[in-house]
Amino acid sequence: METTLAIVKPDGVRRGLIGEILRRYENKGLRLKAAKIITPTIELLEKHYEEHKGKPYYEPLIKYMSSGPVFAMVLEGENAVTLVRLLNGATKVEEALPGTIRGDFASQTTYNIIHGSDSIESAKREIALWFPELA
Ligand code: CDP
Ligand code: MG
Repeated sequence: METTLAIVKPDGVRRGLIGEILRRYENKGLRLKAAKIITPTIELLEKHYEEHKGKPYYEPLIKYMSSGPVFAMVLEGENAVTLVRLLNGATKVEEALPGTIRGDFASQTTYNIIHGSDSIESAKREIALWFPELA
C-alpha cells in the first residue's frame, strides 16, 4: 500500500484548517497513519527542500515554514501520492483550481497552505525525515 507525506503549512495551522484538510483526505478514502504538530527546525527544512536551494523563493520559503507549528501527516491508500497532489491543487496559486485545497484557501504561491510528496521515492525520503520514529 502506498504512503505519502502531507504537511499543513504554518498559515494553514494558524487559520484553523487542519480539520478541513484532513477531512478532504479522509473523504477521498486515504487513511491517517501518523501525525504530529511541530515547529520544524531550519535543519529539517533545508533537508526537506534541498532540491530548491538557490531558487529565488528558497529563503522566504524556509523562513515561512519555520515561522510556527505545522501539521505533518502520513497518509496511506492506493495511489496516495497522486491523490494527495490532486486534492492539494497546483503549486502556483493562479493555476490552483477551485475545489482543490490551494484553489479554495491559498492566494500566494509561497504561502500555499499544504505540502504533498511528489513521488513514491520523495515520499519515502520525506517520511524518514519527518517521522524517523516510524523507520
Ligand atoms: O509544493 P509543490 O511540490 O507543489 O511545489 P514545489 O515546486 O516543490 O515548490 C515547493 C514550495 O516552494 C511550494 O509549495 C511553494 O511554497 C514554494 N514555491 C514558491 O514560493 N514559488 C515558486 N515559484 C515555486 C514554489
Ligand atoms: Mg514539491
